[in-house]
Amino acid sequence: MSIAVYPGSFDPITCGHLDIIKRGSAMFDEVIIAVLNNSSKKTLFSPQERVQLIEKCIRDYPNCRVLYFDGLMVDFVKKHGANVVIKGLRAISDFEYEFQMAQLNKQLDPDIETLFMVTNVNYSYISSSIVKEVANLGGDFSKFLPKEIYEDVKQKIEKGRS
Ligand code: PNS
Repeated sequence: MSIAVYPGSFDPITCGHLDIIKRGSAMFDEVIIAVLNNSSKKTLFSPQERVQLIEKCIRDYPNCRVLYFDGLMVDFVKKHGANVVIKGLRAISDFEYEFQMAQLNKQLDPDIETLFMVTNVNYSYISSSIVKEVANLGGDFSKFLPKEIYEDVKQKIEKGRS
């Protein structure tokens, strides 16, 4: 059975993330979306909220599930019987950091492979940070997020303003 882990902050999940999940789900028996639970990193949504938002978006992909994790990603991957880590690459600027992480993770556990998937060109400019910035500044961010979570994100941003 082939199991892949797709790790990230997902604060919140974007259309770009969901596209990677969809394509990953067609390649592996199971994809585990691993939400980083790092209390030192300031996030708009709590780890539990980020997991719930992703759950709303993956109902069409029965071989995907979402969990949160802390500690080393390679330990999470091993614990769940996976041996592939999926990463999305939007641009060359992503590559340097992702390459370093992939090399590091290979040193930590040589059995784990990192699979880079090229982000769909329609979403290559989208990041969670950019979505939050547009939303905070009152712009229309509806096309950057899966429709299932737009209202949740809108409400969270409005709550933060009031
Ligand atoms: O969406 P992000 O913020 O780019 O995701 C980064 C993430 C969660 C994949 C990365 O920070 C991570 O794997 N953290 C877990 C801790 C770890 O294993 N660190 C060593 C490899 S950098």
